[in-house]
Amino acid sequence: MARLAVDPAFVVGPLDRRLFGSFVEHMGRSVYTGIYEPDHPAADEDGFRTDVLDLVRELGVTAVRYPGGNFVSNYNWEDGVGPKDQRPRRLDLAWRAIESNQVGTDEFVDWAGKAGVEPIWAVNLGTRGITEAVELLQYTNLPAGTELSDRRVANGHEKPHDIRIWCLGNELDGPWQIGHKTAEEYARLAEETANAMRRVDPDLELVVCGSSNASMPTFGEWERVVLERTYDLVDHISLHAYYEPAGDDRASFLAAAEGMDRFIGSVVATADHVKALKRSDKELTLSFDEWNVWYQDRFPGELGLKIREATGLIEDVYDVDDAVVVGSLLITLLRHADRVKIACQAQLVNVIAPILTEPGGRAWRQTIFHPFALTARHAGNRVLRTEVAGPQVDTQAFGTVSALWTTATANDETGEVVVFAVNRSETETIGLEVPLHSFGELELTEHLALYDDDRAAVNTADDPDRVVPRELDGTTVTHGICTATLPPASWHMIRLSPGGTR
Ligand code: AHR
Repeated sequence: MARLAVDPAFVVGPLDRRLFGSFVEHMGRSVYTGIYEPDHPAADEDGFRTDVLDLVRELGVTAVRYPGGNFVSNYNWEDGVGPKDQRPRRLDLAWRAIESNQVGTDEFVDWAGKAGVEPIWAVNLGTRGITEAVELLQYTNLPAGTELSDRRVANGHEKPHDIRIWCLGNELDGPWQIGHKTAEEYARLAEETANAMRRVDPDLELVVCGSSNASMPTFGEWERVVLERTYDLVDHISLHAYYEPAGDDRASFLAAAEGMDRFIGSVVATADHVKALKRSDKELTLSFDEWNVWYQDRFPGELGLKIREATGLIEDVYDVDDAVVVGSLLITLLRHADRVKIACQAQLVNVIAPILTEPGGRAWRQTIFHPFALTARHAGNRVLRTEVAGPQVDTQAFGTVSALWTTATANDETGEVVVFAVNRSETETIGLEVPLHSFGELELTEHLALYDDDRAAVNTADDPDRVVPRELDGTTVTHGICTATLPPASWHMIRLSPGGTR
């Protein structure tokens, strides 16, 4: 039996809805035959797949990072604007692929408008630098009347795109990155680029690159060096992390959220260390702008790729455990809502994505679509602290950890309280009690769970709803205590409201 303590007075922080962000990179079939396929029967007048747009809206994505990823570090934004038939075909060095440039800046802004998401833009600080970043910013954000903004107008976009969030490069600590840099080299370039971009618009939100993951040899020191130079100039520091099982160690994989939790804690500590060094009043926040489950051991590496165009790349098919882990990673992001203000699941379509498509054919929801969509739809505006007393699990990677991983949110408008929980035990069904007295009268609205006797089950084009969340019977609220039974390896959303429906 486990007992979860939650109280409206114990608040983590307000929920920034940009936590439900995603990522579209020019890579594999993310753009071409993913979001864009002019010959598809469901394509709209601009060539965007409306079946995919519908799924993106259903997923509840709020912001989308673009155009990369590793791709951006060798991208010329100028190639992707102007008449489509005059755009160059180029070799993208990041993924050794031919880029047709049929989708570029203006098209992606149009797509984002249709999808109802805020674009998050990354600039190339790998092969290019200050000039190109500032010119792109002028192209996108200045009103007509300068050479660059007039080019946008000539390309059919009179109104400025007014892109607010900008990433100062991508993963420049990684030796795989085109234009990889030392911390000192990157810090100087990021500082100068931020300085110049703020001259165009002082109110931009700028994201400086943190480490590509917590196992990088430079992790920690990279953040310190970069922030000592840029602390006053930027708003957020980025984190990236991908999770996969190590061999058959499923216990550690199910507890992957511990890794994310500790990673966030370390970056917060480093940012606050620099804050102290600078005697600063400013609190830096975090942009976890790449996260997901990714079976990287199946990726042959860049040099193992043949040069080709718009061909499937890292199209991982996700099973039940992957969805449970994705649900638990979302819980971690919510638990850190006081410091994590932006997060982007990587990626959105086809490339390690919740949505898969066939060229010319169907689009469907992977297992990982569901915890994301339900969390995005139902998480309230305030995240509440939760404490669990209950069973524990032993893991090789993280030691002994709580079997239950939880968070809760409150919605100040509706009074709804939502408990999100993952049972990370592979063997134990856990009885859960949540005393709700401090919220007044609450009733159960629904308890949806994602789990399956076959933890390796997946969704396919032919069987797209093989794995979907289902109502869990037996959950009750009696005398102000919610009681539920959580099967092994399962994700849960328990919605409670004043005057529920059953
Ligand atoms: O999302 C796939 C790749 O992972 C991105 O291009 C890169 O930033 C990261 O290493």
